[in-house]
Amino acid sequence: METTRTLGRTGIKVSALGFGCWAIGGEWQAPDGQPLGWGKVDDEESVRAIRRALDLGVTFFDTADTYGTGHSERVLGRALGKRRDDVVVATKWGNVFDEATRTLTGGDDTPAYARRALTASLTRLGTDHVDLYQLHLSDADPERAAVLRDTCEEFVREGLIRAYAWSTDDPARAAVFAEGEHCAAVQHAVNVLQDAPEMIALCEELNLASINRSPLAMGLLSGRRQGALEAGDIRSRPPEWLQGFEEGAGAATDWVARVDALKDVLTSGDRTPAQGALAWLWARSPRTVPIPGFRSVAQAEQNAGAIEKGPLTAEQMAEVDRILGR
Ligand SMILES: NC(=O)c1ccc[n+]([C@@H]2O[C@H](COP(=O)([O-])OP(=O)(O)OC[C@H]3O[C@@H](n4cnc5c(N)ncnc54)[C@H](OP(=O)(O)O)[C@@H]3O)[C@@H](O)[C@H]2O)c1
Repeated sequence: METTRTLGRTGIKVSALGFGCWAIGGEWQAPDGQPLGWGKVDDEESVRAIRRALDLGVTFFDTADTYGTGHSERVLGRALGKRRDDVVVATKWGNVFDEATRTLTGGDDTPAYARRALTASLTRLGTDHVDLYQLHLSDADPERAAVLRDTCEEFVREGLIRAYAWSTDDPARAAVFAEGEHCAAVQHAVNVLQDAPEMIALCEELNLASINRSPLAMGLLSGRRQGALEAGDIRSRPPEWLQGFEEGAGAATDWVARVDALKDVLTSGDRTPAQGALAWLWARSPRTVPIPGFRSVAQAEQNAGAIEKGPLTAEQMAEVDRILGR
């Protein structure tokens, strides 16, 4: 497999695997106390994991201003340090938050807020430009988003960003952003248990990168079993949109059964289950760039190690569909 992929028509090259920096933001919450992070994290371990990923050839990092209400961007900026220009940094805007109380307070889809948010992200990341700037309001009004697309084109002209994308699971919304010259990608949910055929078809048709969030189904595909999760972990009290976990019970039984059924095919070629889940995504389309989350050096090494094992074969892809009855 080619170990790099291109972000759509921009020509920006990234490693075929990116690293997702949500979990390393640490704890934060909704106003009603709903956890929005993944529980406590050790910042020094996060920094070591990012640096190990760099050493293993990972050149793409995805974060958001809101992850840990600014904390993830700060940790990423610190870990990259002088190596900032060796990598492609993606972040997101649109959510409004209070850093002092680590609370998400709302959303803002105005161009003025986009500019304020970008300025703040640049400071936290310690950089003068963002490579890929992503609208984080997945269900934003398409007409208002078209204005934000034009705002992003202004940011490109000013040298503040190189390209932009919408983080949304709706192909119609992704198509609105794709009308902009420097729109490079769409970030959307897809993994071996949750295919996204319409979105991937759109990415292929419009030459956009398909940046794959939740590539490990929020940890389920790594083989995580039922059992209690830490109280500050979003999976311990899953919001409505989060599938595969049950309040107080950990992984849902039917999801665990599907993961078990896929075990042999995903662990082919000496892969771990997580590596197999990434291999499925690379085989799914030449446009995909999975961005698994991580919390430790060990996870970083294992996930980066998936690159050299490459994609599943066409026969294995068909076997997955057969097992899942697709
Ligand atoms: N709206 C959006 O734009 C949006 C939404 C969601 C995610 N994202 C992005 O997508 C990234 C990844 O998606 P995700 O956070 O939903 O989850 P994911 O990548 O599907 O799962 C990540 C989790 O799996 C576990 N894990 C990772 N590697 C492992 C390994 N090798 N062995 C065992 N366990 C492993 C870790 O949690 P445990 O060890 O605790 O199990 C890790 O936090 C995020 O970091 C973020 O950048 C964006």
